[in-house]
Parts: sequence; structure tokens; C-alpha cells
Amino acid sequence: MKVNKIVFATGNPNKLKEINSAVNSFEIIGLKDLGITEEIPETGDTLMKNALQKAKYVYNKTGLDCFSDDTGLEIEALNYRPGVYSAMYAGPDCNTENNIRKVLQELEESTNRKAQFKTVIALILNGKEYFFEGVVSGVILKERSGKGGFGYDPIFKPVGYEESFAVMTIDQKNEISHRGLAVKKLINFLARS
Ligand code: IMP
Repeated sequence: MKVNKIVFATGNPNKLKEINSAVNSFEIIGLKDLGITEEIPETGDTLMKNALQKAKYVYNKTGLDCFSDDTGLEIEALNYRPGVYSAMYAGPDCNTENNIRKVLQELEESTNRKAQFKTVIALILNGKEYFFEGVVSGVILKERSGKGGFGYDPIFKPVGYEESFAVMTIDQKNEISHRGLAVKKLINFLARS
């Protein structure tokens, strides 16, 4: 079966842009294209549960094939925090700036800067559930570097590279990133479906 149109259950325009630049065999539409503007509940305590919760919400509402992702930054010296709580790490005042500041403060004394980004994608296709995972290892820099990307990109440098994700182009990041890897698995699967 050829999948022509599939919903990515996200309201994040950066993610939609990243994925659309990696995919050309089918059209990926976002929640805004469907007029879905409400915040979708994300109450799970794992990436997998959250990804499935969001995909199910959209599937139940629209009946369309769809997928959703959930991503976490896992920092070894912080007991793999912020993990599933990456978006709200700085608490009530959470935003990108405050989340990054908190991570840098917590790691100030730490010589272990090892971290990984993990993405889990949940796909609902013809009513069945599938999961795809992507992981990229790296280190947390001592200070921000670069103006591109989003979220924790300015402080994450992948292993084997000299620069942070925020210095890379979207294509360079897609090639090696957690979400890029998970998306490749999703695309391969869809191509065989
Ligand atoms: P989400 O669950 O994918 O929305 O992401 C949770 C948190 O991780 C948010 O604070 C995002 O900013 C951050 N995040 C997700 N993907 C990335 C990425 O590719 N780079 C940097 N931060 C990300």
C-alpha cells in the first residue's frame, strides 16, 4: 500500500520542517493543517507512552494514519534526567533558555558531560501500532554554541563532530540526529507497507 498523506501529531513547526526535508515519498501534514489547535495531553512517564498517547489522540479524533514523537535528553551525570521531562525541566518558568541554564548549572562541577538524545516515534497505520527509536550520543558543552536548531541544540555536541547541533544545517542534523534516525526507520517501514 502506498501512503500518500500522513499526519505528524505535532504543533512544532521546527519538527515538521525537519521531517519534511527528510521525506519526499509522501506528504506529511501537521496538526495546524487539520485545524487541531488544542494542547494534546502528554502525561506518560516514558517517551513511548507519551508518543503513543499523542498519536492515539489524533487518530481517535480524525481517523487518519498518523505518527507522533517524543524526545528526551538523557544526561549520564544527572541520572539520565531530564529525559521524558525535557520540555518542562526548569519547572513553572520552563522555556528553552531556562531549561538550558538549569542543565548547565547542574553540570557546572561535573567532568562527566556524556548525554544522549532519544526519540521514540509511535505510528498508527491502518489501526495498528508500531514504534521506532533513534539515539544519538554526545556531550553537553560548557556554554551555548550556535544559533540554529531548537531546544537543547546549542549545548549538545554529537560524538565525532566538532560543533553543536545548533551550528549544523537542518540536513546535517537530520543525517545523524535521534529524530533523523527514528524517522529513517519509519520511512523504511512505510516504504515496505
Ligand atoms: P518533545 O517531547 O520532542 O517535544 O521534546 C521535549 C523537549 O526536548 C523539548 O524541550 C524540546 O525542546 C527538546 N528537544 C526535542 N527535540 C530536540 C532536538 O532535536 N534538539 C534539541 N532539543 C530537542
